[in-house]
Amino acid sequence: MAPLVIAIDGPAAAGKGTLARRLAAVLDLAHLDTGQLYRAVAALLLQAGGDPADAAAAAAVAEALRPADLARPDLRGEAVSAAASEVSAHPGVRAALLDFQRRFAATPPEGRSGAVLDGRDIGTVVCPEAPVKLFVTASPEARARRRHEELLGRGEESIYAHVLTEMQARDARDRDRAVAPLRPATDAVILDTTALDADAAFTAALELVAARTGRVPPGKEKPGRHPGRPSETTGRPATDNVKGPTE
Ligand code: DC
Repeated sequence: MAPLVIAIDGPAAAGKGTLARRLAAVLDLAHLDTGQLYRAVAALLLQAGGDPADAAAAAAVAEALRPADLARPDLRGEAVSAAASEVSAHPGVRAALLDFQRRFAATPPEGRSGAVLDGRDIGTVVCPEAPVKLFVTASPEARARRRHEELLGRGEESIYAHVLTEMQARDARDRDRAVAPLRPATDAVILDTTALDADAAFTAALELVAARTGRVPPGKEKPGRHPGRPSETTGRPATDNVKGPTE
């Protein structure tokens, strides 16, 4: 049986990482935060004194990326975040990272039966055949507030207005770039988390997975339902914050 692929895309700090990790844990799937790939390229480039605007230098770093680089402790800082967004606009960088992502989805590590990938272009470019696609979004102000609180929580200095400006600049770069811009796949379900907490987003996502694939968390099977068969759930919005495919 082909591995199950769940594609989760969306802008920064919309809650897609938390959602992807939770879905992977409860459904026993592998998880790849694809932003880490771009962050690792950015961190290595900055460390070597390189310029994120230098397409050839960034592509060379991406081609030499090793799995261990994804575990670097310095990937979440604001300088790396901004540089990651810049390097991700270079076609050579994206091409170098595409194979790794597709291989992860096609042969999930540790013999897992599927994978959850989160990023910006999973549903549109990396895994366009994924049966489950979610586009997780929220207002820029809500996302900036979350990132600001996350930074303060880590003991870092943060000014909300700066975080908001940075986030809007990053959104614009991710959305307006020529290659694989941030946008929902036509068959993605939009989950707006501006007024939705993590539990409600998780419940809505699980309903979508069940509706599209018949997969439910172990122990939650309904009597008479056959694994692998689509459930009777309609996949209709559990809340007003969930919108169907944009087609
Ligand atoms: O999800 P994140 O904030 O960790 O991503 C960091 C940057 O990497 C983001 O600004 C855009 C880029 N990115 C991308 O272009 N494509 C992906 N699939 C994932 C991330």
